[in-house]
Amino acid sequence: MNTAPIIIAIDGPSASGKSTNARLIARKLGYTYVDTGAMYRTLAWHCLQRGVPVREESAVAQVCREWRAELVCVEGHVRLLVDGYFPEAEIRTAEVSAAVPHVAAVPEVRHWMKLHQRDCARFGHLVMEGRDIGSNIFPETPYKFYLDANPAERQRRREADGVQENLAARDQKDSQRAVAPLKIAEGARIIDNSGESPEQTSARIIAEIQRALVGR
Ligand code: DC
Repeated sequence: MNTAPIIIAIDGPSASGKSTNARLIARKLGYTYVDTGAMYRTLAWHCLQRGVPVREESAVAQVCREWRAELVCVEGHVRLLVDGYFPEAEIRTAEVSAAVPHVAAVPEVRHWMKLHQRDCARFGHLVMEGRDIGSNIFPETPYKFYLDANPAERQRRREADGVQENLAARDQKDSQRAVAPLKIAEGARIIDNSGESPEQTSARIIAEIQRALVGR
C-alpha cells in the first residue's frame, strides 16, 4: 500500500477561487490545508514591520535568512508563526498586498519557501494552494489543478471581499517574475469556475481526485 502523503496542488491567479475551494476540498477529504500566499504575505508583513525596503532584494533576502519563523498545524490548517506569533489579520491589508509581489520575486525567498512548503508533508495529506505548487513545489504530484475565472469576475470577487486593488497589475507581476512565475503546470487540469459556486467547483474537483485515487 502506498502510504506517502497525497498532495493536491491548486494553482491560479488572484481571486480565481483557490482559497475557498482549497479549504472546502481539504475539509471534505480530511486533508491539511496550506495557503502558501499567506506565507509570502507573512514575510512581506514582517519586512514592513521592521522598516525593511521590500524593493531591495538583498535586504529582503537577509530578513529571510534571519527571521524566526516556524510552521505549525492547528485544526487542519498550517500556520506560519513569526517569533511565535500568527499575524492572521495583519497580512490581509492593502499595504501587504502591494508589498508581497516584490518579496515573492526574490530567489532566496522562493528557495526558503520551497523547503518549508515541501516540509508541510510531515503534517500528512495536503491541499496546498498557490502559484507554483504543481510546477515547482511538488512537480511530482499527479493531482494538479489550475483554477481560473474571467478577469471581470475575479475583480468583482475581490471587491466583494472589501479589497480594492488592481488585480491585472498583480497578475502581471506574478506571471512575469524570473523565478517560479505563475504558470499552468504540466499535467494540470484547468478548471474555469466563472459563474459557478464554490460548492459546484469543489464538488467537481473532489470527483476528479476520487477518480484519480482509485487504485493508488
Ligand atoms: O494568493 P495571495 O494573493 O494571498 O498571494 C500573495 C502573493 O504571493 C501573490 O502576489 C503571489 C505570491 N505567491 C507566489 O508568488 N507563490 C505562491 N505559491 C503563492 C503566492
